[in-house]
Amino acid sequence: MPALVLLGAQWGDEGKGKATDLLGGSVDYVVRYQGGNNAGHTVVVGDQKYALHLLPSGILSPGCVPVIGNGVVVDPSVLLSELSGLNERGVDTSKLLISGNAHIITPYNVTVDKVTERFLGKRKIGTTGRGIGPTYADKINRVGIRVQDLYDESILQQKVEAALDVKNQLLTKLYNRRAISADQVVEELLGYAAQIESYVADTTLILNDALDQDKVVLFEGGQGTLLDIDHGTYPFVTSSNPTAGGACTGTGVGPTKISRVIGILKAYTTRVGAGPFPTELFDADGEALRRIGGERGVTTGRDRRCGWFDAVIARYATRVNGLTDFFLTKLDVLTGWEEIPVCVAYEIDGKRVEELPYSQSDFHHAKPVYETLPGWSEDITGAKSFSDLPKNARAYVKALEEMSGAPISAIGVGPGRDETIQINSFL
Ligand code: GDP
Ligand code: IMO
Ligand code: MG
Repeated sequence: MPALVLLGAQWGDEGKGKATDLLGGSVDYVVRYQGGNNAGHTVVVGDQKYALHLLPSGILSPGCVPVIGNGVVVDPSVLLSELSGLNERGVDTSKLLISGNAHIITPYNVTVDKVTERFLGKRKIGTTGRGIGPTYADKINRVGIRVQDLYDESILQQKVEAALDVKNQLLTKLYNRRAISADQVVEELLGYAAQIESYVADTTLILNDALDQDKVVLFEGGQGTLLDIDHGTYPFVTSSNPTAGGACTGTGVGPTKISRVIGILKAYTTRVGAGPFPTELFDADGEALRRIGGERGVTTGRDRRCGWFDAVIARYATRVNGLTDFFLTKLDVLTGWEEIPVCVAYEIDGKRVEELPYSQSDFHHAKPVYETLPGWSEDITGAKSFSDLPKNARAYVKALEEMSGAPISAIGVGPGRDETIQINSFL
């Protein structure tokens, strides 16, 4: 069985953690391929709730090897505290593997993220402030620090000094901040080295060997398609590639090994941070979605912006990821609405548009064209099969499937592992 990718089809927080955890028991490896601790993936197992930021959700499945791929950016202090938090709760984390090529989020990257946002003022992105963008910028500028650099003190010293040369000019002369000491940064990073050494490995080799031996590898995306640096709503995006191609570059596994790409799709839409969002609601319905759906950020605690389902975005996710399946989540949250509007197209400057416009200004002007579907009032949280759903809920799912361009193979009807209706198997 080759590799599967599981990724966010909207603006993140679609329920990737729950979906990954659901498959965790049946796969051998769960691999994060991009992003870092900007992610917040919630997993509910029985009466226990876990919030994972950097670690792959597979860490909660005992038989599964969790892997942090080369495309991820790693804040070592967050890594260690997340590991010790799980250990205190009895979770065995000893199988974790971290790519030596993954880049390190240094303390100065976190500082630069925060001061840049402050400097942007009203034009800010609303980042998570975790240093993600500046770390990827250093990677592209070839002044990044990699996990393997922690094990060569003199190289580390040289690289940190080189990176801080320019940054300290910016911090002191432009942002009016104090310079950061290279020696202090090196000392802090060296302090993490021994603690994470046992996890560091050639993950590309290990994953390719595993696939050659017919092991099942699941790539778990962070963020979502519309937050992708290339295919998202730039510049209101994250600095990596959550889309399917990112799974290859972020792990060193070739595209011919991937057989299934599963898009996690919320039955309505949410977004955190700034940027365009055509179906956003500013009324009582938006407030109700936020309240019933518990739409508050796992990482930053910010309220999520909420709106109706947007089929234009779902179609776009199918296209740019080559989705083979959708996992529709949070259908239960829509219980109780008499009618549910679904955005089927946009109106842009008086014209009806069926596909996501590539022009940023057009997208900013896009007004949703709604079709209204009948709602349902029955509690669906106990539904185990598609036929257990009320007629109108089934019709809602079928309508979304038709508009979105890929089969809906699973439906979430609650946050728990077993609150899922499986229509087609993913494996
Ligand atoms: P992720 O970042 O994509 O992993 O998603 P988050 O964990 O940030 O947000 C999704 C939230 O929805 C979490 O609180 C999940 O426990 C919850 N959730 C996931 N699937 C379902 C579902 O089908 N129904 C309900 N009610 N909650 C769900
Ligand atoms: P998960 O994996 C939702 C958003 C931030 C901001 C933008 C850039 O839980 O779905 P960054 O710190 O990445 O430079 O911020 O991206 N963002 C997310 N929104 N879910 C996430 O992760 C996100 N990770 C980043 O709010 O708008
Ligand atoms: Mg999240």
